[in-house]
Amino acid sequence: MSVPVPRTIRSAAPVLAFIFVAVLVIQVYRSPDYKLIPGYPMLTPFYFEPPEASVLHSVIRGDNVAWTMDNETAWHSVGRHPNQPECWTFEDRFGAYKNLSLEMAAAISNNNKKNRSKKAIILRLGGGNDANGKSAWKSQFIWHVRSLVMEAGYLAGYDVLIFVHLDLNEEDRNAWLQRLPKELQPLVQTFSTRQLKEWIRGGQFKNVYEHNHIPIQMFMEKNPQYDFVYSIENDVRLIGRWDTFLADVDTEYSFHRKYQKSDQNMSSIPDLVSFQSISQPPSDWVWYKEKEDQKCVKHFGGKDNILFSLGAVWGWSRQLTDSLTKLNTEGFNCYFEYFAPTVARWANLTSFFYQHPLYCPNRDSPSERHTINPDKLGKNDPRLVQSSKVPVGCTYYFINIHSQPFWDTWYQNPRACRPPALVHPVK
Ligand SMILES: *[C@@H]1O[C@H](CO)[C@@H](O)[C@H](O)[C@H]1NC(C)=O
Ligand SMILES: *[C@@H]1O[C@H](CO)[C@@H](O)[C@H](O)[C@H]1NC(C)=O
Ligand SMILES: *[C@@H]1O[C@H](CO)[C@@H](O)[C@H](O)[C@H]1NC(C)=O
Ligand SMILES: *[C@@H]1O[C@H](CO)[C@@H](O)[C@H](O)[C@H]1NC(C)=O
Ligand SMILES: *[C@@H]1O[C@H](CO)[C@@H](O)[C@H](O)[C@H]1NC(C)=O
Repeated sequence: MSVPVPRTIRSAAPVLAFIFVAVLVIQVYRSPDYKLIPGYPMLTPFYFEPPEASVLHSVIRGDNVAWTMDNETAWHSVGRHPNQPECWTFEDRFGAYKNLSLEMAAAISNNNKKNRSKKAIILRLGGGNDANGKSAWKSQFIWHVRSLVMEAGYLAGYDVLIFVHLDLNEEDRNAWLQRLPKELQPLVQTFSTRQLKEWIRGGQFKNVYEHNHIPIQMFMEKNPQYDFVYSIENDVRLIGRWDTFLADVDTEYSFHRKYQKSDQNMSSIPDLVSFQSISQPPSDWVWYKEKEDQKCVKHFGGKDNILFSLGAVWGWSRQLTDSLTKLNTEGFNCYFEYFAPTVARWANLTSFFYQHPLYCPNRDSPSERHTINPDKLGKNDPRLVQSSKVPVGCTYYFINIHSQPFWDTWYQNPRACRPPALVHPVK
């Protein structure tokens, strides 16, 4: 015998069900940035709310000074102004990554299991005891790595690998890896100098500093699922979100590709992405002195055909890594900063310089300006990018005299905010 359900409940049921579904839908779509992560290790779904700047308007004034709430330093925007009108406090940027929930830890650990991505990011680390080693794992650095995996990995769809150079025996190597934060351990791949030497057939391998491209080439050969890789050194930081930053790079490249000249053939993805202008080294450049490098310069038709750039962050296509590897097997191995840009031009690949904001303290001029004649650009490079003097330096440079204070005064002053910036080096 069935108990009759009271009429009020019967008529309320569809309404309640509707409200329940509506609430669920609102939960998921509260913000277009909300993403639902399948619930591992538990079956509860995970809602990741990506960080947002608390100041959502442009803070670059008409005189190019950034309104950053610093009490002493006036930061001048000397490059291109930011794409996003926003200013981040340190807490805005990294607060979400300080306390790791179990769900976020799982999302980080499982990022590369999607097995779908054709694009990878390798975060480069060394195993020494200096900035590359133990101290790299201070909390600030860990928050940075988490942000990279969640934003570039989870939101933007890249696989993110921590690619570590370790010349240690098995036992010490395992001990070193055990000291890494647990959630990051599944993302690690390691390599040794010996492996690099064995891998490079025909070519001469000096060291990772001068031949920093070899680990990237070896990575691409051992991971054939990727057709593009960003290599990011451990002293690079991003103010602003990785997913929006990387999307801006892609959007801008697509724009240039759409407007390419009829004699150009730009590939669907750029072969070399650089974040510092690509230019010609001075004729008395120190890297021209070695015998190996003289052989390289000759092969490329003289100093007139050599181009270099800063390799703190570089994006490389498989076409480019294959071209470099082919030259290695033919007996050429050249200094890191010019090998890839020169080969990209020489092989008619596409080099794309992405100009991002630079800030200098208390002065309105950059550290340097680079220039390159349009006829020195590669045949298939975007033509509109780099036709006159481009600012170089300050917050993205090879030494940290300006980048370090930009970062430290931000970290130390909770009121200070920073407009979007790719910063290098930060120790
Ligand atoms: C800058 O301002 C912050 C916040 O008001 C304050 O804590 C800090 O001491 C100031 N720094 C200097 C160097 O005046
Ligand atoms: C994060 O963890 C720290 C230390 O465990 C704690 O003091 C702080 O309140 C936590 N913050 C949040 C937002 O949960
Ligand atoms: C991942 O992709 C690779 C290459 O496409 C394939 O060989 C492998 O079986 C895949 N693994 C899983 C778990 O799907
Ligand atoms: C452009 O380059 C692609 C390979 O990158 C090639 O397949 C295609 O034939 C080229 N198109 C022209 C018009 O040269
Ligand atoms: C690059 O393009 C130039 C001009 O079209 C051509 O002469 C040269 O052979 C090409 N180089 C390679 C390596 O394909």
